[in-house]
Amino acid sequence: MNSIRIAIAGAGRMGQALAASIDGLPDLVLAGVWHRGADLDALLKKADVVIDFSLPQGTEAVLAAAIGNQVPLVCGVSGLDDKLTRRLHEAALHLPLVYDRNMSLGIAVLERSVREAATTLGTAFEVVIAEVHHVHKKDAPSGTALKLGEAVAEARGEASTDRIKFESERRGEVPGDHQVTMRTPTETLAFSHSVTTRQVFVDGALRAARWVVGQPPGLYAMQDVLFRP
Ligand SMILES: NC(=O)c1ccc[n+]([C@@H]2O[C@H](COP(=O)([O-])OP(=O)(O)OC[C@H]3O[C@@H](n4cnc5c(N)ncnc54)[C@H](OP(=O)(O)O)[C@@H]3O)[C@@H](O)[C@H]2O)c1
Repeated sequence: MNSIRIAIAGAGRMGQALAASIDGLPDLVLAGVWHRGADLDALLKKADVVIDFSLPQGTEAVLAAAIGNQVPLVCGVSGLDDKLTRRLHEAALHLPLVYDRNMSLGIAVLERSVREAATTLGTAFEVVIAEVHHVHKKDAPSGTALKLGEAVAEARGEASTDRIKFESERRGEVPGDHQVTMRTPTETLAFSHSVTTRQVFVDGALRAARWVVGQPPGLYAMQDVLFRP
């Protein structure tokens, strides 16, 4: 079996960790890492899949190049605005695209649990989503906190996350802690997830990259990568 050729967009913390991981894996080969100002089209011409861990300013170019070169995409960038989110949906009409603001197995499981709890408990419970990340993180609340909030709102039949309280803290080099608390004056239910290394997200992104190659066009999430029969 031929190795899957992976292009990486974004040469920051995640991009570098991904590139280092691919080096040691027999079924994957690094096609290259896209730096600011480099030729993305040329890179994608020699790739089977592109993983985007740049920032929102980079994602627009990644979407255009992925469509132009018909290369499946895994995007983990958080903080996309409405316009970029629409572009993402448009791109998914043309290619298979996994977008997830958290690539970890634990958060995928937690999302399912939170959905079930919110469906059962309903709107009587106040929901607080607290997150802690490293001081370099640019967006707040984290994409993961927002994604969990959207899951709660959807499960409760609410059109927005307005009734959910978000708390963000930036401290040291914390790779990512999240806690979802549901409470009334008499009862508290809490879910928490913590990672000690961003390698967890790297492993999830590589799993998504292997999965997305050969899928039909569409917008997928880690829920699909991990749980689709
Ligand atoms: N989905 C997940 O599981 C997950 C996990 C961790 C992080 N994330 C998200 O992934 C993204 C990257 O995280 P990170 O910690 O790796 O950030 P980072 O260290 O700041 O790296 C971002 C990289 O993107 C590059 N970049 C920005 N704009 C660009 C442009 N217009 N063209 C080309 N390159 C550009 C930056 O280049 P310069 O240095 O030249 O600016 C930098 O190398 C963030 O949105 C973060 O929230 C998601």
